Formats: sequence, C-alpha cells, structure tokens
Amino acid sequence: RSDPVQIMKQEVGKAAAARVKSNSIVGLGTGSTTAYAIEYLGKRLQQGEIKNIVGIPTSFQAEVLAKKYGIPLTSLDAVDKIDIAIDGADEVDPQKNLIKGGGAAHTREKVVDSLAEEFIVVVDGNKLVDKLGSTFLLPVEVIPMAIAPVMRSLAKLGGKPELRMGIKKAGPVVTDQGNLVVDVKFEQIDNPAELEKTINNIPGVLENGLFVGVADVILIGEIKDDQPVIR
Ligand code: A5P
Repeated sequence: RSDPVQIMKQEVGKAAAARVKSNSIVGLGTGSTTAYAIEYLGKRLQQGEIKNIVGIPTSFQAEVLAKKYGIPLTSLDAVDKIDIAIDGADEVDPQKNLIKGGGAAHTREKVVDSLAEEFIVVVDGNKLVDKLGSTFLLPVEVIPMAIAPVMRSLAKLGGKPELRMGIKKAGPVVTDQGNLVVDVKFEQIDNPAELEKTINNIPGVLENGLFVGVADVILIGEIKDDQPVIR
C-alpha cells in the first residue's frame, strides 16, 4: 500500500467513512476507492464508534466487501430513503458531474446514489477533468439482444463504440444484471445532461455512466509534500 495512488484512495475512503453517523442507511458504492470506505466503515461499526448502520450495495463487489467487514445489508424494498451514499468515479468535472461505470456497476450505482440524501464521491486527484470524456470512455449498459443496433445508434451520435471484453474471461464483460457494456469515445462532451438523456432514449440501453447533478460532495485525495491530504 505504499503506491501513492493507493494511499490517496485509502485516505479519501477513510475520510468518507468518517462522515457516516449512527442510525444511517448507507449506499455502498463500487470500485477500489470505495472498497477502502467500506473497510473503514465496517471497522468503525465493529469498534462501536458508530451503531445501527445498514448498507445498500451497488454491486456484487460491494455486497461481498460489506459482508467481509461486518456491515449488515438491506435492499431498496425494505427502506424508504438512503441517508448517505459513498461511491467512486472515473472522471469528475468542475460542476461535480461524473463519468462512472469503469467497474460496469453504473446502473445500480445511479439508482442508489441518486436516492441518497447526501452523495459523497471519493476520488484521487487524477480523476479531475475540465471536460467529461477527455480521459475516459463513456460506459453504456445494453441488453444483449439489442447490442448491434445500439452500437450503430451510438456511432450516429458521433461516438466510437467498443464492446467491453473480459480480461480473465473469453468473451464480453457481463454486468451484475446479465447485460453487456459498450464503452464509447466522444471527442467532446459539451452538454452532459443532454447526452445522458439522448443515450438513455436509445431502445435497448439500460443506463449510461453520465451522472449529472447527482453528486453533493466531492472528496479528493491528493499527495502534497509527500503527505496525503483531503480536500
Ligand atoms: C464502478 O462501476 C465505477 O463507477 C467506479 O465507481 C469507478 O470506476 C471508480 O473506481 P475506482 O475507485 O476503482 O477508481
């Protein structure tokens, strides 16, 4: 854990977990940064620093981690609100808009994060961009039977769509919902709010990774003078 990026992720995850109060329903995000937040949240709960916390996982990964660190879980059927959600992002712009879905979990993440009274984004400083789409491709979850027409429609919108392939698997990545993911390169995303709606309007698209107006707080982990700092 001496890699600077891991240190930034760890510290920012810890800072987010420290904000969770007793008696809260917590949205548990996906990815390597949130994994630290889940670990510290579990430790705070086990040490009795906070009490009566229940988590809503955004993915299979979040569920497994919550169980490992002793955070009791519930589902959206059983609660009528989420007090706080902690989740990572792949890109963050100055208006707090995000690209998410690097872990193929953006559909469930958008459901949980947008229901939260307070949605805290945890990122290392490398995730900050002036314009969304400048470093990261936009993930789009698509139902399998519609993959060909959806990819054609995304190309017509000016994007370069690629079907996401597995790394330790022959064939495509399959989401927790059993769907496929297309990563789309757009030269410039000038109007993320409009693009989010336009893509979601293509028949066969379940959800895309643009999160516009959802984030409340962005916690950024950085290294200054060899020391981790959060801002
Ligand atoms: C998961 O689908 C994503 O939205 C993640 O939240 C995002 O990829 C951030 O992951 P890291 O914290 O691992 O960079």
